[in-house]
Amino acid sequence: MITTHGISSDLAQLRELPIGLFDSGVGGMTVLNAMRRLLPNESFLYLGDTARMPYGTKSVETVRRYSLQIAELLVSRGIKLLVVACNTATAAALPALREAFPGLGIIGAVEPGARAACRATKSGRIAVIATSSTIRGRAYENAILSILPNAELSTLACPLFVSMAEDGLLEGPLAEGLAARYLDQIFRIPREQGLDTPDTLVLACTHFPLLRGAISRVAGSGVTLVDSANNTAREAKALLESSHLARSAGRSAGMQLCPGSVRFLTTDDVPRFTRLGELFLGIPIAPCAVELVEL
Ligand code: DGL
Repeated sequence: MITTHGISSDLAQLRELPIGLFDSGVGGMTVLNAMRRLLPNESFLYLGDTARMPYGTKSVETVRRYSLQIAELLVSRGIKLLVVACNTATAAALPALREAFPGLGIIGAVEPGARAACRATKSGRIAVIATSSTIRGRAYENAILSILPNAELSTLACPLFVSMAEDGLLEGPLAEGLAARYLDQIFRIPREQGLDTPDTLVLACTHFPLLRGAISRVAGSGVTLVDSANNTAREAKALLESSHLARSAGRSAGMQLCPGSVRFLTTDDVPRFTRLGELFLGIPIAPCAVELVEL
């Protein structure tokens, strides 16, 4: 209950801050997109650690260290909520982040993705594709099995999808060829052998929804593709509302970070990041909205 004048004015100031998000690169923009749609009155501060991507091939300790550094930077800029828009970083660092920033609401991508998969499946057969690190750490398996203990899971690391997405190679023979190289062992080959195959495919890396078309064509029309973006955005909205931190429409635009309401930080190559950001978000990004930072 907010009673004193001091606390309520602190809350009012906090409410005006942006939501911080980070990913190893541009993949987290799939989460940013969902959040912009669901939370149109909010502003966002997105960091893509492009100098050090991919995260998915690195050790858990390294990804945890990177995540803590990034969170520290975002918190120092002023954010009211942190969204870890990267499954690899969520799996490696969520508890460490919550311990390091106890007063800050922090939402990861794994639980929302797992919940979406459990809602979508009818047969209980679920395939999970992610980075090598996420698959090795079994974060999705554990999250799905805690909701649906009898689920039958197939898991597969598909690390090259990350480079394809970072290069903007989302469609065409290369994307489809790579999707077939990875996914035929889960779908086409068992199907041809008359075996049951998963009815749900979890894109458990925030880069993968960018290749959704190619992945979906290879998996086949009977397979439901799910990712964590929409569910993560919904959880962020619920948390903001329950903590009275959601901005309502019609506040003074002067309090916003910039007119476009999204600011970007990148650790490498601003023009490339801007070009991909425009492609994935479908909005023009002003040069002043992207800043190069060193970590
Ligand atoms: N987008 C990230 C994820 O959700 C990681 C990609 C990478 O850097 O390997 O796991």
